[in-house]
Amino acid sequence: MSERTLVLIKPDGVKRRLVGKIINRFEEKGLKIVSMKFMLLTKPQAEKHYSVHKDKPFFRGLVDYIISGPIVAMIVEGNSAISVVRLMAGSTDGSKAAPGTIRGDFSSSVQNNIVHASDSVDSYNYESQIFFNQAEIIESEYGDESLL
Ligand code: RTP
Ligand code: MG
Repeated sequence: MSERTLVLIKPDGVKRRLVGKIINRFEEKGLKIVSMKFMLLTKPQAEKHYSVHKDKPFFRGLVDYIISGPIVAMIVEGNSAISVVRLMAGSTDGSKAAPGTIRGDFSSSVQNNIVHASDSVDSYNYESQIFFNQAEIIESEYGDESLL
């Protein structure tokens, strides 16, 4: 079933110049970008995005990290996009993530783990409106849909 998910390339991914490589993985998988922004998150936006973690000991560090530099935010669409992108991202802790995943290949850190990906439809609905309004989501047919 076609789904959408929110993906962030976090500040460490941008600073390490991995943006192109990461987007390339999603394109090669057959996912479609329907919205994309290069942006600096404000602290209130970051606190809202990570509000589920507000009582965790790592919350303050996490907010400081995600606002420490520009990010790339995008909405990608495709068959089972939420679980597919989570699988492509790999386990949270880069030192435990499987090789072949984004975190497994590019990160050895539990915090600086390159990407964020929504973990459910509810999370997507909550998170995506922090970054995009409806008018910024662009529907289009690529013509290869029957091949994917
Ligand atoms: P994400 O939300 O970014 O896609 O990552 P996730 O679901 O795999 O991990 P989650 O448990 O939601 O944690 C959100 C982000 O917080 C940072 N983190 N730091 N210091 C720590 O123990 C710790 N644990 C998590 C990571 O940046 C993680 O992606
Ligand atoms: Mg999460």
